[in-house]
Amino acid sequence: MSGERLTAAMDALAGRTGAPVEVALILGSGLGGLADAVEVDATIPYGEIRGLPVATAPGHAGQLVIGRLAGRRVALMQGRLHLYEGLTPADIALSVRILRRLGAGALVVTNAAGALDPGFVPGDIMLIEDHLNLTGANPLIGRNDPSIGLRFPDMSRAYDPAYRDLARAVAAEAGIALRTGIYAGVTGPSLETSAERRCMQASGAQAVGMSTVHEVIAAVHCGLRVLAFSAITNEATGGPDQGEDTIERVLERAEQAGKTLGVLLERLLPAL
Ligand code: HPA
Repeated sequence: MSGERLTAAMDALAGRTGAPVEVALILGSGLGGLADAVEVDATIPYGEIRGLPVATAPGHAGQLVIGRLAGRRVALMQGRLHLYEGLTPADIALSVRILRRLGAGALVVTNAAGALDPGFVPGDIMLIEDHLNLTGANPLIGRNDPSIGLRFPDMSRAYDPAYRDLARAVAAEAGIALRTGIYAGVTGPSLETSAERRCMQASGAQAVGMSTVHEVIAAVHCGLRVLAFSAITNEATGGPDQGEDTIERVLERAEQAGKTLGVLLERLLPAL
């Protein structure tokens, strides 16, 4: 993706976003409730940001919210963009680059995910320590704009190690149990077969979901430090007792876990 698309989007935002942002957040399915705690300065529907597609996924509001949260100036994508909506990895990269251009140095990402790890239960929160990009795509494919980032960005510490230490410490202090693991990112929208889930489990992943990996690649590329959490919404072990999954159950569980995640994030934000 060329820088022109980013420039056009930023032109559309000119004069609407106020002082520079410190922390950016992208909230996942059923996890948008944290936006309610923001002292809002501006709410901008994605449709008003030139070049940014409108979010259509269930549980995703589709607006950029700018304001203050836990003492920090934040920009929050309330509703994320997914490949399964027919969007491209470049669309997803654009959303992340907008957040960077608004001034953010840190990006907090949340998602709803299925548990590949049989020790996890719905309602758990998992701190993402790394990912497997199993989408077969990459948001950086195409001409690289060196004013945005490097052609071959290092991904060996994509999920900022210092932020991960901080998250563990803050969670312990708040009495919030935190799982840790690797997130496998897939395109969806069909859920994985049981064989696919066992395959991902054998590859070392603890959770699976349909987002995050492209956002994190684009974030690392443009110099954002990343902190990410999965709200575990369903058992996805692919074992003999694998139950049926429904989006209604996933959203309901995400909302439960979202409350805990909200408490954790409000405590973490001042330190990012
Ligand atoms: N698979 C993929 N994405 C998901 C799941 C799952 O089991 N649960 C929530 N998002």
